[in-house]
Amino acid sequence: MEAVKVPRGLAGVSVADTRISKSSADGSLVYRGYPIADLAANASFEETAYLVLNGKLPTRGELDSFASGIARRSSLDRRVFDIMGALGGGAHPIDAIRTGVSALGSIDAEQSIQDKEASIESKMPVLAANCLRVPKGEPPRLPGKTGGFADRLLQMLTPREASEFDRWVFERVLIFYMEHDMNASSFTVRVVASTLADPYAAASAGLASLKGPLHGGANEAAMEMLLRAKDPENAGPFVEATFREGRKLMGFGHRVYKQFDPRARLCKEYLGEMTKKRGDDRIYRLCDAIEREMWEKKKIPPNLDYYAAPIFYLLGIEVPLYTPIFAASRVFGWMAHYNEQVEENKLIRPDSTYVGHAGRSYVPIEKR
Ligand code: ACO
Repeated sequence: MEAVKVPRGLAGVSVADTRISKSSADGSLVYRGYPIADLAANASFEETAYLVLNGKLPTRGELDSFASGIARRSSLDRRVFDIMGALGGGAHPIDAIRTGVSALGSIDAEQSIQDKEASIESKMPVLAANCLRVPKGEPPRLPGKTGGFADRLLQMLTPREASEFDRWVFERVLIFYMEHDMNASSFTVRVVASTLADPYAAASAGLASLKGPLHGGANEAAMEMLLRAKDPENAGPFVEATFREGRKLMGFGHRVYKQFDPRARLCKEYLGEMTKKRGDDRIYRLCDAIEREMWEKKKIPPNLDYYAAPIFYLLGIEVPLYTPIFAASRVFGWMAHYNEQVEENKLIRPDSTYVGHAGRSYVPIEKR
């Protein structure tokens, strides 16, 4: 059978039927049919995670048992921290988390696929919060006993006390990071799931894919860029210099959203509120000025990472922890994709078009 040729990067190619979420070029995003703005306005992180995993909003009893299950399973075997600690202070944070998830795959005593998934989801925030500290030899920060998923994660990420509004915003950003149809890391998870490898293998592959600056790593790259740009007055020359050097503006552009990313719009609103409450709107004005320059010059809108980054910055979170936060949330989407793939499985094994040499003959090494 002749192989079907598809566009580079599989752009515009539908590779699976999914009931989990859908992003569209018109700037809409739904999780299980619910618009993202509706969930952001009304749902907690745990409610949204339950929805993404199970396809329906939980009843009170289902929510309580789901939330307490996550809290209960979050404690990590000391050996996982020891293995992360052996990496040393130079370890990349995502490599440290990935190593932690791989170690869990051997150490966890969970038997069923569902329990394995719940264990990864519950422990990922602990791995994320400790991926910088533990390789440096610092003692791990463990989750507190109070608050929901987002509060417990934030408390581990920064000792700074956050206001109620800031905590609310952090939870919204986590909701936005949770799921995004066939993004690179979820596709990676589905490829691994399609071989029937276990959820630890799939999650560690998802983490590998998330590490790159064109995907998860963009929130850190966006913050570093904003810190370099410094001043709203400097936006024009900064954008021009970036293009002159042939570089991309990090936190801009998206495979699906060409007009606007609905998550970025909401985060921009939250950032505006946060800066107003602090009486210093410089970072908001800087973001807005670069966004305007980019739109004027290239008609490319900001994505979620662009506005999530300054929110994390104002919360006092260290920049190398931004992608780990993404992972702590996206793991719920990954597990939903894992399940959907396995339920309707067909090994993902595409074809390729060979454009290499033909008809060559082996030459002994002495004659080359
Ligand atoms: N800065 C400058 N130019 C850009 C940017 C950008 N951030 N994004 C796209 N472009 C330009 C490209 O150079 C290209 O121009 P050309 O046609 O003249 O060559 C054109 O827009 C199309 O860009 P592609 O990279 O081909 O678009 P694609 O859909 O493949 O890529 C991607 C989307 C990878 C996100 C891209 O926009 C990018 O690299 N952005 C920066 C990294 C980033 O922010 N990633 C986060 C994605 S969202 C997330 O993971 C939560």
